[in-house]
Amino acid sequence: MMTSLPIPLPAPFTVRGITFDPALFCAPMANITHSAFRRLVADFGGYGALFTEMLSVKSVLQEDLHHSPWLKRRPGDGKLIYQLLVSDVKGLPECLERLAPLRPEGIDLNCGCVAPKVLRRGGGAALFDDLERLRTVVRVMRRHVEGPLFVKFRLGHQSDDWRARLVARLRLLEGEGVDVVTIQPRFSEEPRGRRVRHELYGELSAETTLPIVANGDISAARCPADQALAFAPAAGLMIGRMAAVQPWIFAKWHQPALVVDYTDVWRRLCDYIAEDFEPHKALLRLKIVTPYLARNFVFGHNLFRAIQPAPDFATARERGSSFMEATPALQRSISPSGI
Ligand SMILES: Cc1cc2nc3c(=O)[nH]c(=O)nc-3n(C[C@H](O)[C@H](O)[C@H](O)COP(=O)(O)O)c2cc1C
Repeated sequence: MMTSLPIPLPAPFTVRGITFDPALFCAPMANITHSAFRRLVADFGGYGALFTEMLSVKSVLQEDLHHSPWLKRRPGDGKLIYQLLVSDVKGLPECLERLAPLRPEGIDLNCGCVAPKVLRRGGGAALFDDLERLRTVVRVMRRHVEGPLFVKFRLGHQSDDWRARLVARLRLLEGEGVDVVTIQPRFSEEPRGRRVRHELYGELSAETTLPIVANGDISAARCPADQALAFAPAAGLMIGRMAAVQPWIFAKWHQPALVVDYTDVWRRLCDYIAEDFEPHKALLRLKIVTPYLARNFVFGHNLFRAIQPAPDFATARERGSSFMEATPALQRSISPSGI
């Protein structure tokens, strides 16, 4: 049997007066890390900061800062980093000024998204590709962001010179005053199912003075021994899909014996979504996150099958509650892959 080791919890780090303690982050996830989901994760705690999902400049300029589920924050949520999806500087200073009263503990630039729609508009990984456009955007961001500035990306395109290209980008980000980088060591062309090269963190951290947050396929506080050691050079860890499966994952890092009341989690999730979303949008939000929660259970597909065709929110809430109240058998080994 393969030995597993605890992944060492990275020491807290402080950037521009903001301390991330622990240096454990909940990843930005479109349609998932909205205010209701953030509130549920916050009920358990254990993380250093949450991220919003990627936000367009237009949406930040249009949404209501204090009511929008994308933008609003609750005092109990702890630290929150707003992620922006940007392709040029149009409206960017106004967008950053508009966010300032929410007192974000950081602003993150999305340079990793490979969704075709995002790439066509020149955002995400397409911005990372274009060195001069990247420089212009980061320079404007640095000028308008007082607090920590994060950038999140993959390795770039798979090519013979990928290392040199990546190092050129790290130099650019260092030179333009970025504070932290999050790296998911996959190439842009690789789907999420492909292996993440955790072993590269040593090499990458030797190439840059910037703290690196490791991301990709971190699914528990313990993992195979060789993988656990690979995270040692990282300044922080970021968890995405497994946080959607287990919003308590950060708390469990600190309290491995944590007992979860699944019925209570389900009901709170439903109530928080119903509170933050208009009724016609709430059901869709619940349907989006349910496949992740379903991964906890041996017969989780029954939860999924019950919720997907639900005609309204109350029915979905009730069906989910019945599933949880029956004390469904728990999966011993959980993976979010394939969702
Ligand atoms: C449903 C979904 C939505 C995502 N949306 C974003 C996003 O808005 N911004 C971003 O930088 N990454 C986004 N990602 C990528 C995650 O932040 C993360 O980098 C990726 O899932 C790998 O981490 P994981 O293996 O822990 O899930 C998304 C991933 C998923 C599954």
